[in-house]
Amino acid sequence: MVESLIIPDGLTSRDEKYRLLLPQVKSLVEGETDLVANLANMAAALREVFGFLWIGFYIVRNDQLVLGPFQGPVACTRIAFGKGVCGTAWKEKRLIRVDDVDAFPGHIACSSLSRSEIVVPAFNEIGEVFLVLDIDSDQPAAFDETDETYLRELIRIIEKH
Ligand code: SME
Repeated sequence: MVESLIIPDGLTSRDEKYRLLLPQVKSLVEGETDLVANLANMAAALREVFGFLWIGFYIVRNDQLVLGPFQGPVACTRIAFGKGVCGTAWKEKRLIRVDDVDAFPGHIACSSLSRSEIVVPAFNEIGEVFLVLDIDSDQPAAFDETDETYLRELIRIIEKH
């Protein structure tokens, strides 16, 4: 298991940062079977490298999403199926990228500083969503196809574990 992340200073490309980060996250997760411990380290790793406003997981518990490990300001603890960006990603079983949170009907504003958001669902072996990764930025349109690609890969690490 790695004990600290090795991401050289001065890297400006997000693509490069993800490419260095992903194998290190894999190695972090490999040695640990506990889901909460792994999600906690994943949130911390993303925060350390990218410094987004809020990074965390909501875990499916019956008919709701319940707040899991996260980094950032305190957040709402429960989200209903189909509500907000997270509940919609769960219901529609798809990644959702929101360039302007004010333009997303039903967006749940946990922080008034949030301007854009990306939510990536994780699927179990029978194709059901068992958690979502939610990342918020204080910048509008902070996420693009690069984030989609690498965050999907990151979630695959948890799905396969
Ligand atoms: N904005 C999310 C709620 C979670 S917070 O951003 C941490 C949503 O609309 O589902």
